[in-house]
Amino acid sequence: MTTIEEPRSLDEEKLMQFAFRAVDEVGATLNAALVVMGDKLGLYRAMAGAGPLTPEELASRTGTTERYVREWLNAQAAGGYVEYEPEGGRYELAPEQAVAFTDESSAAYLPGFFQIAIGSVIDSPRITETVRNGGGLGWHEHVHDVHEGCERFFRPGYNAHLVESWLPALEGVVAKLDAGAKVADIGCGHGASTVLMAQAFPQSTFVGSDYHAGSIDTARERARNASVADRVEFDAAPAAGHPGSGYDLVTMFDCLHDMGDPVGAARKVRELLAPEGTWMIVEPAAGDRVEDNLNPVGRAYYGFSTLLCTPASLSQEVGLALGAQAGEARIREVVEAAGFTRFRRVAETPFNLVFEARP
Ligand SMILES: C[S@@+](CC[C@H](N)C(=O)[O-])C[C@H]1O[C@@H](n2cnc3c(N)ncnc32)[C@H](O)[C@@H]1O
Repeated sequence: MTTIEEPRSLDEEKLMQFAFRAVDEVGATLNAALVVMGDKLGLYRAMAGAGPLTPEELASRTGTTERYVREWLNAQAAGGYVEYEPEGGRYELAPEQAVAFTDESSAAYLPGFFQIAIGSVIDSPRITETVRNGGGLGWHEHVHDVHEGCERFFRPGYNAHLVESWLPALEGVVAKLDAGAKVADIGCGHGASTVLMAQAFPQSTFVGSDYHAGSIDTARERARNASVADRVEFDAAPAAGHPGSGYDLVTMFDCLHDMGDPVGAARKVRELLAPEGTWMIVEPAAGDRVEDNLNPVGRAYYGFSTLLCTPASLSQEVGLALGAQAGEARIREVVEAAGFTRFRRVAETPFNLVFEARP
């Protein structure tokens, strides 16, 4: 017997609650551009530790136009990003916000997160077209804010966890790095992870690679600036073309799911590794089921996945499109399909899962 469902009745109060929530979200969407603006103009840096400032004072310290600065400050105050003193008409950055907006070494540093979000939004009309027509959009085709924002978003997390806890969680790897190991960092982007590891392990040598030549140029510059260029080489190459062999450690930071053929890349890692070598895979934090990821982190990552990761993978051969919320079970499938016999999760943070794979 067929049952006919009654249409669900409209709850006017719920509708208005939803509309008001959307007001907040429109404010947040615009605020992403305002945060990037405040970062690029040096407004947050000028406010950090400066105490309460008038818009005139802030404009004069940053060489900007007072009328715009006043409007920007009001938008920041309305969103709770700065504090406002009505008596003196002054605005202040609280110590916590000063860290979040200006301290690049803090795990809570935020400008890169907003910068990659804005870059993704700027490119969204092109993604709209790919959704209509199929195909993808490669990482190299994005605006610079995506590339630089990615580096600035991920680096604070790597600073906080990579040397301190992720590498020590891998079996026997730190001892090899201390003694002098060969390391490959595939899909290294601007090389934040490569440079950090090179600084921590002066006896080891590193080869970073990424298929995006522009990112590799920046990575080389970062290595020179960090005085590690003598032990760090960068190659513009896809994962399948990473040079060399006999690596003690191969790393992939937040890039396996972006690749068109992650299983092919995993097979390449097997060839690159020394017999007792280790593959460390850092992937975005995610549960295996959609319903596990319906939370703020999942929301941000599904957003990035729609605008960056899925089109990146679909732009390449095979186009497996794991997505940024692939989760442990899907990553295990990829690793095992390439013939690795050992796979385990070794660490996690609110933003990342860290896996160890061995031949
Ligand atoms: C989200 S970014 C992460 C970059 C870097 N690992 C980091 O953590 O800052 C993903 C990177 O994967 C690279 N990528 C995508 N497909 C690739 C492929 N098939 N081979 C090598 N790199 C690839 C992109 O160019 C991009 O730099």
